Amino acid sequence: STGGSDAAKRRAGEAAADTVEPGMVVGLGTGSTAAYAIEALGDAVDDGLDIVGVPTSFGARQRAIDCGIPLCSLDEIDGIDIVIDGADQFVRDTGSCIKGGGAAHSREKLVASAAETVHLVVDETKLTDALDHPVPLEVLPDAHTVVADAVRSLGGEPTLRDAANKDGPVVTDNGNLVCDVDFGTISDPASIATHLSAVTGVVEHGLFVECATTVSVGQADGVSTTTY
Ligand code: A5P
Repeated sequence: STGGSDAAKRRAGEAAADTVEPGMVVGLGTGSTAAYAIEALGDAVDDGLDIVGVPTSFGARQRAIDCGIPLCSLDEIDGIDIVIDGADQFVRDTGSCIKGGGAAHSREKLVASAAETVHLVVDETKLTDALDHPVPLEVLPDAHTVVADAVRSLGGEPTLRDAANKDGPVVTDNGNLVCDVDFGTISDPASIATHLSAVTGVVEHGLFVECATTVSVGQADGVSTTTY
């Protein structure tokens, strides 16, 4: 887990879970902040709340199973009412963010694209005026050197993400690799996003441009929610 205090993350996650209504299809985000929302939703399900969850990763799915939230996959439903998800860096003015610190950004973006409400949950250490976090790319294994060359020509510095407890790279839930690309400060996220989407071998990138419809920012002593 990254970022600020557990108390701040919990406040953000619980504030988002509080907005979920009976009958909703709920996208379940990845990471330590979204985990607090999943936990709160599990408690609400115990108390009789009728929802169906769509997990954004293996980890989110395991958490939801542990919490007793009924689940389904994206192809079984018509759409998603709300997804509650974290972010690695977030610009409050625009609602843009960088995701993929948990290597789950492809399915996170897919679920967000199907969701009416995208409610991001972050602690205040994630806030920035300009995105400068390395952008995670999910990359087909065969493509990683070709993709590295392509992103260098876009002005980025690529690093293949290594696994912590393995002699080798991180492998995503989809069997792909992750390349973190340092662009320095990103002054035009929409332009970088367009260029990254056009690179062959990139399954999905972690730039979510003007993606949030709501954000809850947890602080040590409270939470503030903004709707776009
Ligand atoms: C997963 O790929 C990421 O997009 C996560 O949503 C992000 O890393 C947030 O995780 P934390 O809430 O643990 O910081």
